[in-house]
Amino acid sequence: MSGPRADQPLRRVRLDALAFGGDYNPDQWSEETWHEDIRLMREAGVNMVSLPIFSWPQLEPEPGVYDWAWLDRIIDLLWDAGIAIDLATATATPPSWLLRAHPEMAPWDADGHRLEFGSRQTYCPSSPIWRENVARMARAMAERYGEHPGLAMWHISNEYGDHTSRCWCPESARHFRRWLQERYGDLDGLNEAWGVNVWGQRYTSWEHIETPKRAPGPVNPTKLLDFERFSSDALLELFQIEIDVLREVTPDIAVTTNFMSMFRDLDYWDFAAVEDVVTDDAYPDPADPTSHVGAALNYGLMRALKDGQPWLLLESSASATSWRDVNVPKAPGKIRVESLQAVAHGSDAVMFFQWRQAKYGQEKFHSSMLGHRGERSRSFRETKALGLELQKLEAVRGTRVRSRVGLVVDWDSWWGSSAAESLPSQRLQWAQQARAWHRALYALGQPVDAVRAAGPFDRYDVVVVPNLYIAEQEHADALAAFVERGGHLVVGPFSGVVDATEKVHDGGAPGPLRTLLGIEVDEQWPLADGETEQIAYAGETLTVPSWSEWIEADDDVQVRGTYASGELAGLPAVTCRPVGRGSAWYVSAMIDHDGMLPLFRDVLRTAGLPARDHVDLDVEVVTRADDTTDYTFYLNHGRAPVAVELPGPGFDLLTGARHSDRLDLDRYGVAVLASPRADTIPTATPIPVKEDA
Ligand code: GAL
Repeated sequence: MSGPRADQPLRRVRLDALAFGGDYNPDQWSEETWHEDIRLMREAGVNMVSLPIFSWPQLEPEPGVYDWAWLDRIIDLLWDAGIAIDLATATATPPSWLLRAHPEMAPWDADGHRLEFGSRQTYCPSSPIWRENVARMARAMAERYGEHPGLAMWHISNEYGDHTSRCWCPESARHFRRWLQERYGDLDGLNEAWGVNVWGQRYTSWEHIETPKRAPGPVNPTKLLDFERFSSDALLELFQIEIDVLREVTPDIAVTTNFMSMFRDLDYWDFAAVEDVVTDDAYPDPADPTSHVGAALNYGLMRALKDGQPWLLLESSASATSWRDVNVPKAPGKIRVESLQAVAHGSDAVMFFQWRQAKYGQEKFHSSMLGHRGERSRSFRETKALGLELQKLEAVRGTRVRSRVGLVVDWDSWWGSSAAESLPSQRLQWAQQARAWHRALYALGQPVDAVRAAGPFDRYDVVVVPNLYIAEQEHADALAAFVERGGHLVVGPFSGVVDATEKVHDGGAPGPLRTLLGIEVDEQWPLADGETEQIAYAGETLTVPSWSEWIEADDDVQVRGTYASGELAGLPAVTCRPVGRGSAWYVSAMIDHDGMLPLFRDVLRTAGLPARDHVDLDVEVVTRADDTTDYTFYLNHGRAPVAVELPGPGFDLLTGARHSDRLDLDRYGVAVLASPRADTIPTATPIPVKEDA
């Protein structure tokens, strides 16, 4: 593959403002409506729209016959009104004629059924026909619009893997074999990597290797893991094909594809490395009163994917979605606080799916900036107010989020510990564990960045590894170097278990992390469903809901927590190995949220970072900064007003008011205080009295 690499200079999005707007589907509306759209977009401060994402059939109604006229017209109209275009290559979904002519390009499911036309993303990522056509369409778009002054950036495909992230068809099988040949060289290499002597799995010909379709019993776990890796790579190749074409025709235009937050199926570290700017689609569930906590981790990943650079929130919902079983609307004010949360976490954009609510089709009940009642709809009132308010935050554009805590996000461990069917327990899930640990750090008031398992860790004081099932020596070396430099590391259960081919490390867990942590795992000890155990930790009792381990600690290791019930009573549960000014902790159990608080509080304070005593998940404080100024976002995600004690005075960019020691935030209230850049990251103490709503 050729194309942009992480070490090449990145192209900038051609828009000199925080982006505000949404997906726009003019081909669902009359030209008369377009004029109204543009009038209202201007009124709301819209400066960028994404189109024509799903319009290939409207642009090429028959093979080789293009109809550009409508797109030419709307792009010109938008640009005349000062609205830039996040221009999609229109390759998110194939036209029916292409699929009819080449039925073999349809994806297959794990039971070997071909999926039909009638929705979107009906393609096999490995299909040569699809790849050829995608390159052709991207070239046609680039040649047609590459010089257009309104072109802000390229939007390649749409949410890769949303519907088709894995394909089990014969073409995918051929591609899988090529991928395996590249990885393992020859069949002996593959047989050795997959540990084929278990259950008689030896392969004597590449042709015998199929995609891992449903089998009579549990499938070889390394085969499953490789299929996850391969499938992510197959979509990455597809992405790269379009990038290469666009680079060739429009070398100065930034490229992106929109991500789906912390999405299991694609290794976004790899995807981000080949694009110019990270963009994300975020849909926190309004039915979940703490969905903003999960969003904070998703955004911590988005900014980390390109080394702390600002990213763009490319899609969000103005109110309800339509793809959940129950689609709860966003209460008044929630659009604002959720959107500004993304900005707080490094987004230089607030964009929605979509501009005008559809009248027909699969998404007609999905909210939009302009609801079915047009400019009289609440969503329009609220998004318009937001668009105008965003203009007051221009100073934060390009600034970076300040964070001293990194959380290791590792797709290999995610896949390895979730694809396999034979594990000590299915109750310890990578994503759940990562979210639980993040939630505790969030509760203590720390913004958290995602970080790769091999680092770099230099900008952090604390690194947490909720789970690193697959650990290699390079991970252990990078983590050890971090601790030796004075960093504080916390490693979670079921880490360092296997290598990259899923072979258990000699001597068992934590494998390459053994010296660093100073412990050995004798046996994983998952709890039966419904059972809980306890850990005695610094005078507190922590609850263990589903996973514990029999561990033994070296003499120089401090036992900070001890199992206090069950078969493991009296054995170490939480350990800390001091290393110079740093420390390496091991937490052998899954511990519930309340239990993680005292533990992480200790770690943070040992590292010299503040940790809240009074926990209020509704109150979030995040700082973006340039060299001279801190822009601290104070967000109230709750329905009741709150007050916080400020670390120092600042001016609210949104209201112009000056606040010195106390800040009152209404229901879903937000303030963005500018103050001279402080040595330490500004934090705030929530005042633990909630006034009545
Ligand atoms: C996204 C997708 C959009 C729209 C939206 C609805 O996943 O990119 O096209 O379907 O969801 O929430």
